[in-house]
This record gives sequence, structure tokens and C-alpha cells, in this order.
Amino acid sequence: MSIRHYLQFKDLGADEYAYLLTRAAFIKARFKAFEKHQPFADPDRTLAMIFEKASTRTRVSFEAGMYQLGGSVVHLTTGDSQLGRAEPIEDSAKVISRMVDMVMIRTYEQSKLERFAAHSRVPVINGLTNEFHPCQILADLFTLVEHRPAASGNPLDALKGKVVAWVGDGNNMANTWLQAAELLDFTVHVSTPSGYEVDPKLAGISNPGCYKVFKDPKAACAGADLVTTDVWTSMGYEAENEVRRAAFAQWCVDEAMMAVAKPDALFMHCLPAHRGEEVSAEVIDGPQSVVWDEAENRMHAQKALMEYLLLGRLG
Ligand code: CP
Ligand code: NVA
Repeated sequence: MSIRHYLQFKDLGADEYAYLLTRAAFIKARFKAFEKHQPFADPDRTLAMIFEKASTRTRVSFEAGMYQLGGSVVHLTTGDSQLGRAEPIEDSAKVISRMVDMVMIRTYEQSKLERFAAHSRVPVINGLTNEFHPCQILADLFTLVEHRPAASGNPLDALKGKVVAWVGDGNNMANTWLQAAELLDFTVHVSTPSGYEVDPKLAGISNPGCYKVFKDPKAACAGADLVTTDVWTSMGYEAENEVRRAAFAQWCVDEAMMAVAKPDALFMHCLPAHRGEEVSAEVIDGPQSVVWDEAENRMHAQKALMEYLLLGRLG
């Protein structure tokens, strides 16, 4: 099998997502039943995790997930490797990928991830870049399907036609939602402050019909199946903190916004969250919020993803 990377959401097709979402449910059920599921035990497989930005969920979900699959991990950061001392990314890719079976990278520019992948002998996974966060959206879709399954049992039927309201920054999460909507046939209602809009070119989508823009965040939430948001200031943009705090003041998901969404609408947030900024405490800690399932599902979804990238379809 040729190497498959997961650098952005559209690197996989709809049929592959149908498989992964079903597989993630199977893997999660085994985990919950305390049953071993160790396709990476023999031969032992290793994941290198490279972090150039901070992380809690991504680190824990990949590391715990890899051990649960019977494999092991190597954890590198810019500060404690030669990556922070200007070793070319191409050289790092050539070396690291001779010693491990898969690499997960969290970094700044998508182009850096792409350069690594171009020189890697093994699959490379995007653990967040300035432009995209595909593992998060994979987990979010898994969570949506889990909470609102289709009668057919096909996860793609559960997603088709859904309305996802995106309230906040036109950032890596928003871009990835647009790619998912285009591929899996749902619509994103996007509301951002002016100056922070999504850019379809940067998002890598070609069908402008997969999203609608709303000036008013509450209007974006009307009739939504899922309301979701993210921090006002993403990692790497901290210098803009004060300007953003003023610009985003009206983009706080509150109970009034949830009230105009569908009565059974869910609320998601990739976390970490700032209560009183992008979301009120009443919403994130309220009955429609599924943020803890969403965070846990990072691990189950990524286990399915890693298994697929290394071993193909199983079961
Ligand atoms: N959602 C997410 O990626 O969280 P971390 O930054 O903690 O990894
Ligand atoms: N958009 C956020 C997501 C954090 C998980 C960031 O890039 O910092």
C-alpha cells in the first residue's frame, strides 16, 4: 500500500470516513468493555509525536491511544530536539521516519507539515496547524453521529443535510469544518467578526454552497443541529489578543443563541475553552454541551485513523 498521510480533512474520501466512523465506534466499545485491541503489538509500532505548540488533548489522546493499540510513542518538542535549533525539516523527516512507523506533528504553517510529509517514509498526521485541525473534526463528527445516529446505521446518513453553526474566528477549526461539509454533504453557517472571515481558498474548498455567511451570530445559529465555537485567539496569534478581545465581544455562544438552534441541538468546543469569552458557562456546562464526549472521542477516532493509515481496513 502506498503511504497515506492525513494532512488535511480532504485527504480521505467520504467512503473512508464512513469506515473510520464505524471503526471508531467499534474501537471505543472494546475500550469501554476493557477488551484488548492491539493491532500494533506484533510487530511493535511506534508513533513519533512532534509538538511545536502546546497541547493537552492531542498529546494524551495520541499517546494513550497508541499504547492501547499495543504500540509505543516518542515525544519531541521544538525545545528539546534539533528542530528548535534549525535542523532542516526535510532532514528531520528523513531521519525520524526511518525509525518510527508514523509521525504526528503539531506546528505552525501547513507548508511545514507538507514539507515533512514529502520527505517522510511513513504516514504523517496533522495534529493541528495554523490552517487545519482535521483530527479534531474527525472526533467532532464521530461525536455528532454518536449522539444523533441515522436510522440506517450509516454515519454518512447521520451527517448529510445537517446544519453546523460556526460562531467565532475563521481559523483552523473553521477551515476544517468547511472541508468536512463539502465532502460529507452538510452546511456550515459561519459568523465571524469582520476581518476574521473564512477564506475558501485557504480552506481548500471549491464548492461555495457548503457554507453560508451570517453577520449576526444568532442568525447563524437559527435551526442549527450543532453550534460550535473556538477560542478568540488561537496559538501563535497571542500578540493580537487585545484587538481580538474587542472584535469578538459579540461572538459569545450563550443561551439566547442556543435557544434559536434546533431544540435538540448539540454544543461542541474543541477545548481549551474560556468561559465568558467565546462561550458562556451556562452553555458549555449545560445540558446541550457534549464537550467531554468530544474530547474523549479524540482518542477513539484517532485510534481508528492510525490503524487505518498503517494497516488499512480491518474487520
Ligand atoms: N482540542 C485540542 O487539540 O486540544 P489540545 O490543544 O489540548 O491538544
Ligand atoms: N484554534 C485553536 C485550537 C486549539 C485546539 C488553536 O489553534 O489554538
